[in-house]
Amino acid sequence: MTVLDTLRPRLPSPLQEVPDDRFARHGLRLLLKRDDLIHPDLIGNKWRKLAPNLAAADGRTVLTFGGAYSNHLRATAAAGRLLGLPTVGVVRGQELADRPLNPSLARCAADGMRLHFVDRSTYRRKTEPDVLARVLRETGTEDAHVVPEGGSNAEAVRGCRALGEELRGQADVVALACGTGGTLAGLAAGLAAGQRALGIPVLKGGFLTADIRALQNQAFGAPSGDWTLDDRFHFGGYARVPAELTSFADDFEDRHGVEVERLYVAKLLYGLVALADEGAFPRGTTIAAVITGRPFTV
Ligand SMILES: Cc1ncc(COP(=O)(O)O)c(C=O)c1O
Repeated sequence: MTVLDTLRPRLPSPLQEVPDDRFARHGLRLLLKRDDLIHPDLIGNKWRKLAPNLAAADGRTVLTFGGAYSNHLRATAAAGRLLGLPTVGVVRGQELADRPLNPSLARCAADGMRLHFVDRSTYRRKTEPDVLARVLRETGTEDAHVVPEGGSNAEAVRGCRALGEELRGQADVVALACGTGGTLAGLAAGLAAGQRALGIPVLKGGFLTADIRALQNQAFGAPSGDWTLDDRFHFGGYARVPAELTSFADDFEDRHGVEVERLYVAKLLYGLVALADEGAFPRGTTIAAVITGRPFTV
């Protein structure tokens, strides 16, 4: 038993079939992998990615990075509160230091996270050893366990392999939304032969294939599993949520009684409905959509 078990995560997370005629009419089954139910504060892929990092921190300060609305910062702060670990959040945007905290950062601070604001150039260069060393010095946390932006490091990717393992034999295609690609990198490695992972990037840019390969090399020493990306459903880029996507998500919530997080999960589900309509999946395919998050409420 580790200290994390005291948080009583709901694992394996529930897998639930939802009747949806937009899939059924093409001979497809839709399952929802409810990672949003793993833990009320460490939601979805946050649990999967943070748990091994919290174990690796072994009581030391956890220092990590994020933008002003980062889900990852909030989850790290919550983990610090729950486990009694000091946490430091390095936040992009020096200018934010002089403004009232937004609700997301206020939540981090209330959970005991020390916020350290840096200018955008420092933030961009945060993985360079001298820049990181300076940040650690400025925050007085030279011995901290450092977790990268989005939480995707080798420990996190290995943690996400369990998500794939839980889905062995349960679906032909496992689909999820991607930011850094860390969750997909681990998930794909955990699936059985014959299953494939499908990632829907929510950022524009087309850089993820190389990033995911690099993460798999770091975590497992080699590329692993069968996975592809479909880059057509980012709706213009990160945090872009046009009205069409909002009404899609509202409708999905009405149909299935599942809260749909808008920045990632809505784009995934929208993409799956579009792909089903295009005939991208052969009849008889079972698709598991990973519900990696929940809408943020303060
Ligand atoms: C709700 C949700 N889904 C998916 C992701 C994407 O995870 P990854 O960065 O591992 O691709 C994130 C990342 O923060 C997220 O908050």
